[in-house]
Amino acid sequence: MTVATGFELHRARGPFNAAFFSVMGPYIEWNVRHHKRRVYADLPATVVEIGSGVGANLRYLRPGSTLVAVEPNEPMHGRLRAAAERRGVRLDLRARTAESTGLPSGSADAVISSLVLCTVTDPAEVLAEIRRVLRPGGTFRFVEHVAAPDGTPTRTLQRLLRRPWAWTFEGCSCERDLAARLRGAGFARVDLTPYRLHSPFITFNTQIAGVAEV
Ligand SMILES: C[S@@+](CC[C@H](N)C(=O)[O-])C[C@H]1O[C@@H](n2cnc3c(N)ncnc32)[C@H](O)[C@@H]1O
Repeated sequence: MTVATGFELHRARGPFNAAFFSVMGPYIEWNVRHHKRRVYADLPATVVEIGSGVGANLRYLRPGSTLVAVEPNEPMHGRLRAAAERRGVRLDLRARTAESTGLPSGSADAVISSLVLCTVTDPAEVLAEIRRVLRPGGTFRFVEHVAAPDGTPTRTLQRLLRRPWAWTFEGCSCERDLAARLRGAGFARVDLTPYRLHSPFITFNTQIAGVAEV
């Protein structure tokens, strides 16, 4: 199925991913919580999020805040709405892609993402859109999984598993050098920290978290 936004939604894998992230969300969250607390600290009252999924990052917003959620995968929307209501966050949900949010230029103080730049079709296009939407001095705060360094066993495994991984997780790549993409995207400042998780999802364990400022 292709939704109006141009996002390719698979009839079975769209709902599978919505269920997967509902069930596995707490486990993923436990693993990345320290990094998220650091980069999502002191978010403003209105936050734009790309690829909100089922609402993993709502806990980092204060109750009464507004989340402008750019999420093209409609099977995620019901759970996302329910989670926002539980957290007392006002939800402005846009069924659009991060490549083309439709948001006004220079309108956002903060854009956040977690585990999304691995899945978008063109990270360079998404980073350009984020820069367009942020006001001068605004920040993009991210937690993402990335390719392991060349020549490591994890990198070999990422290479071997890239096709079934991408098939299962709707185009997710475990082979992207997103640190280089972020540093080359034209932000005024990029501070990022690479780290490694110790989860059974080995291809997913090499990650970065940080803040990029316009
Ligand atoms: C791995 S999930 C992560 C969800 C959530 N951010 C989290 O941390 O649990 C990737 C999310 O990106 C969304 N997504 C995929 N392609 C996208 C695009 N082009 N623009 C915006 N979101 C996209 C998917 O629908 C999904 O919700």
